[in-house]
Amino acid sequence: MKSAERLCMHISIDGPAGAGKSTVARLVAQRLGYTYLDTGAMYRAIALAVLQAHISSHDAPAIAELIKKCDLQIKTEIDGTNKIYLDGKDVSADIRQQAISAIVSDVANYKTVRDVLVDKQRQMASHGSAVLDGRDIGTVVLPDAELKIFLIASLAVRAKRRNADLQQSGEKVSPEQLAKAIEERDSKDAKNTYGPMRAADDAIIINTDNMTINQVVQKIVDLSKRP
Ligand code: DC
Repeated sequence: MKSAERLCMHISIDGPAGAGKSTVARLVAQRLGYTYLDTGAMYRAIALAVLQAHISSHDAPAIAELIKKCDLQIKTEIDGTNKIYLDGKDVSADIRQQAISAIVSDVANYKTVRDVLVDKQRQMASHGSAVLDGRDIGTVVLPDAELKIFLIASLAVRAKRRNADLQQSGEKVSPEQLAKAIEERDSKDAKNTYGPMRAADDAIIINTDNMTINQVVQKIVDLSKRP
């Protein structure tokens, strides 16, 4: 089917931490007029709920109970960014803290958590054309997505990008600590039992090391218009 005839299209953008997925996915969605869904933010919100409830990220039964009670809402702003609400409170900034990054992979490894969030992601994607970014979108959440992208970048570049993000939010972490934390998170995310970070067999791999954000966005927009 030619792209112009497509009624609905889903684009998955997966890849490791700091590869630029969220920024690129949001801008691609904006250019195409699609909905954008940041699935990592959903896992981060549950990790925040775990921290706030003073539950250990290794306490499977307590997390299974917690996920049943969490009221998680995602709203899209006019500029295309996602705002995340946990139990009615806007937690979009809180979920970016390094303390959340440190435990989110453990929280995301519970089947009880993934079942709820994957279901919610599929439901949100079912309303129309959408760009979803995460780790398992092209493999688990939307295996039939029409366009699958796997973004990669070297560890040094990814640590530099994350450092810039954290500095903006006022958090101080040394570049070495940050690179180590990213490596640890990638390793855990790749070993996740129920939704490991993995490029789908039919994903197009884009190395963003020497590309500007706009170049990556343009490439994906061009790919989406391919017959
Ligand atoms: O994209 P991010 O760095 O905000 O994601 C935070 C964590 O959430 C990531 O380390 C792994 C987990 N995650 C996941 O397991 N599956 C997804 N689809 C998205 C994120």
